[in-house]
Amino acid sequence: MDRYSGSHQYYDRAKRSLARGVSSAMKAAQAPVPICAGRGAGSRVWDVDGNEYVDFALSFGPMLLGQSPAVVLEAVRTQLDLGVGFGAGNRHEAPLAELVCEIVPSAELVIFSNTGTEAVQAALRVARAATGRTRIIKFRGHYHGWLDSVHVAIPGLPGDGPGTEGQDPWGAHRTTICEWNDIGSLTAALADDVAAVIMEPININGGCFMPSPGYLHEVRRLTREAGALLVFDEVITGFRVALGGAQELLEVTPDLTVLGKAFGCGFPISAVCGRREIMSVVATGKVSHMGNFNGNPLAAAAGHAALRHLRDNSEQIYPRLESSMRIVADAFDRANVDHGLPLQFNHTVGAGFGFVADQPVRTHEDRLRSDSDVYALFAARMLDKGVLIPTRGLWYVSTEHSDQDLTLAAEAVLDASRELADEAGALS
Ligand SMILES: Cc1ncc(COP(=O)(O)O)c(C=O)c1O
Repeated sequence: MDRYSGSHQYYDRAKRSLARGVSSAMKAAQAPVPICAGRGAGSRVWDVDGNEYVDFALSFGPMLLGQSPAVVLEAVRTQLDLGVGFGAGNRHEAPLAELVCEIVPSAELVIFSNTGTEAVQAALRVARAATGRTRIIKFRGHYHGWLDSVHVAIPGLPGDGPGTEGQDPWGAHRTTICEWNDIGSLTAALADDVAAVIMEPININGGCFMPSPGYLHEVRRLTREAGALLVFDEVITGFRVALGGAQELLEVTPDLTVLGKAFGCGFPISAVCGRREIMSVVATGKVSHMGNFNGNPLAAAAGHAALRHLRDNSEQIYPRLESSMRIVADAFDRANVDHGLPLQFNHTVGAGFGFVADQPVRTHEDRLRSDSDVYALFAARMLDKGVLIPTRGLWYVSTEHSDQDLTLAAEAVLDASRELADEAGALS
């Protein structure tokens, strides 16, 4: 019997009324079928067939405290009985904003949205209003959500064009695309009047690429000199690579920061924060920040509980996230050496990116040369072995991954890579 028959049945049914059968392109990519999750707890997810997985997808990042984290659920349950939405402020917003200002180095004033994409839009609007300029710079292979203005030159796609059909061809008309880790490219682009330079300070979506030594400090200096605002999109890195995000880890403070994903540990909440003088365009009403669900009580309660927990336990949490991801990285290294399937793995604290490639993958171009089809086969083989990873290469760890989970994953990496290498050998 097919191990995924329940998911197949569900997917077939869903496709009849739900376009593509799942609610995001990322989920659609999963082979042999987009599984239908039944429940999750801690580091584990179970699908509707009852298959159990160690979860390294973590809802594509948000579940930093694992599935169904008790501290977050408790705060949300309490709020559920008090009301789920008001045409008014609520008791969680101010404490949450205070906590963001305490934790994130660049934060002096905060606004809330629901998703990373929305918060990126808000950040760009704030930057344009604060500088009186319109042009933005983004980097090839960085992802900032699906807005027409930034969904160009996206990770894993060649060229500078839109990430999907249907985008407004003029949407990125005021966007300049630069090479990341290349100061010359940025210097030239800053000759125009630029409102904002937006980047992932660690380019996790591109392939978990680190900034070159000194690069971010130089970007900081150049943007300041040019009067352009530096925006760190910390939707992935925020609260994950360090409590204060990549800006804390790498000791570079941007003007504006975008937060999302792990912020609500599963509940949809995102934020823009930054220097008071810049964010004052919202405080004064010059920029209208809109959104029915912004700062809604359930998500704000979740965010507050999650951040308090991360802050109060940061001394244990971050070293553990670091060592957990390193165990996966070591397994990739061993598989590469022992079994012949050419695997590569880049990683930082709590996040990593795997590739099938002969050489280390250091840039957007290197990634385009890697074999994403064979990696998808590898991800499917991992699923068979009870390890859930995104098909496109990302890995996330949570605070809930135990030594046993990591050992199981490491063994699965070795076995999957050996099997695929053997099968490729038998075919050749
Ligand atoms: C760095 C980064 N920015 C923005 C986004 C968009 O966030 P959302 O999917 O919540 O709109 C993502 C999503 O993966 C992201 O990784």
